[in-house]
Amino acid sequence: RALAIYHDFRDGCATPLHRLRQVVDAMVVEMHAGLALEGGSKLKMLLSYVDNLPTGEENGLFYALDLGGTNFRVLRVQLAGTEGRILQQEYEEVSIPQALMVGSNEELFDFIVAELASFITREGEGFHPLLGRQRELGFTFSFPVKQTSIDSGNLLKWTKGFAIKETEYARIEPQEVQRSFKCCTSTSWNRRALLCHVVGKDVVEELQAAMGRHKLDMRVTALVNDTVGTLAGGRYWNEDVMVAVILGTGSNACYVERADAIPKWRGVLPKSGSTVINMEWGSFWSSHLPRTPVDDTLDADSLNPGDQGFEKLISGMYLGDIVRRILLKMAEEAALFGNTVPSNLFIPFILRTPDVSAMHADESADLKEVTRVLRVVFKTQASLRVRKIVVDVCDTVAGRAARLVAAGVVGILKKIGRDTVGNIDMARLKNNLAGKGRKTVVAMDGGLYEHYPKFRTYLNDTAVELLGKEAAEQVAVELSKDGSGIGAALLAASHSQYSSD
Ligand code: BG6
Ligand code: GLC
Repeated sequence: RALAIYHDFRDGCATPLHRLRQVVDAMVVEMHAGLALEGGSKLKMLLSYVDNLPTGEENGLFYALDLGGTNFRVLRVQLAGTEGRILQQEYEEVSIPQALMVGSNEELFDFIVAELASFITREGEGFHPLLGRQRELGFTFSFPVKQTSIDSGNLLKWTKGFAIKETEYARIEPQEVQRSFKCCTSTSWNRRALLCHVVGKDVVEELQAAMGRHKLDMRVTALVNDTVGTLAGGRYWNEDVMVAVILGTGSNACYVERADAIPKWRGVLPKSGSTVINMEWGSFWSSHLPRTPVDDTLDADSLNPGDQGFEKLISGMYLGDIVRRILLKMAEEAALFGNTVPSNLFIPFILRTPDVSAMHADESADLKEVTRVLRVVFKTQASLRVRKIVVDVCDTVAGRAARLVAAGVVGILKKIGRDTVGNIDMARLKNNLAGKGRKTVVAMDGGLYEHYPKFRTYLNDTAVELLGKEAAEQVAVELSKDGSGIGAALLAASHSQYSSD
């Protein structure tokens, strides 16, 4: 009976090649629709106002804040132009204390700015701020923001499960909230509870106001999504980087688009002729996406039902909980773990994606790692036969996610004409780049991509299946670790108020 339930689930998750091709095409169609007009698609296709990517000529001392992934980071980067490129960099990871669990956006931004101020006072030796100049900052803010310029933008909504309203938050037991958000980090949920007060406001104004309160003379010169920061960071080292994807707690992608291919663009087209589009692909939806009843209940129980459909199938925040839910179903309906259902199986988000990765990677004959996770997380044990089913469930859930991500990436490549050998040549010829290396590089970052080897393998293999061997050889997917903070600092440099000096 348990096997029958699993087989049903596996069939519902199936991603045969013909279905993936439909997803690729749906992605392309939705990209066009989102570019055509505001609200034209679930894919927001947000303008980033990044019309020029780093060239390597950036110079000076710049700071960056990186907020919205598992960790909050403060960075300092010394750039030395084409001669030395990045001379030196330092960063600190900060977690937001429990005391800030309930509060206002002022408290949150005050906390961030206080951390930034103390980071600045610990300025390391060897860094050379330019005398008489205001310090400048790039702000990576990993949520959907409708930008009004490179250094301003209003938060549209919360994602990754942070979409709680102030009043609802007050009604949820702290334990409950904590559990729901504990999937990736023990401290992240509280700042998200706070951040909900910021919806609709200009996040840079909020940050600048906090800097004012702290008498910190600093200016935000670039506001970027984490995907855009990753693209900029990747492009600094490699001019073939055209796409960036985050596979972490949440998931999203951005890419370089021709400005004249954006009908919703208002105003003068940029001189560079292109711009970076933050797709917010987490909210992509298509009837071709394989969705099971388990996904339906995950969505219904989430804090943003009906929203971020693609993200809920592919990102690190949700994969562990999908596995938990199907195991619970098998435990309840087919006594997978014996006559009593282990009580921890009922706890949302108790199974984290790193645990799924560890079980999935278990190659020991007696599946030791699976035994360990079942014991530690669910306080239960199971026969080898059942442990094998658990591994199969992990394989199904991660396999579906990785294959869908590959389809998403190929959709982007198709949209920009980099999905076939012929197209790639044409694109390069058009940009006078023929002969300068032929690859299209996709920069990737995020805990899911970095720490889940089988996921990476599935993703790469599926990209080859979809593109064909020859075209796939022209595409490289590369880890761009922590590139988004550096990317933000680089964009702060290229948008510096002193850059025309
Ligand atoms: C980090 C980037 O490396 O990855 C962040 O610097 C990004 O900007 C994060 O948000 C995403 O990964 P995760 O796993 O922390 O959500
Ligand atoms: C969520 C956010 C998006 C971000 C992604 C990865 O999908 O909406 O802005 O890029 O997570 O962090």
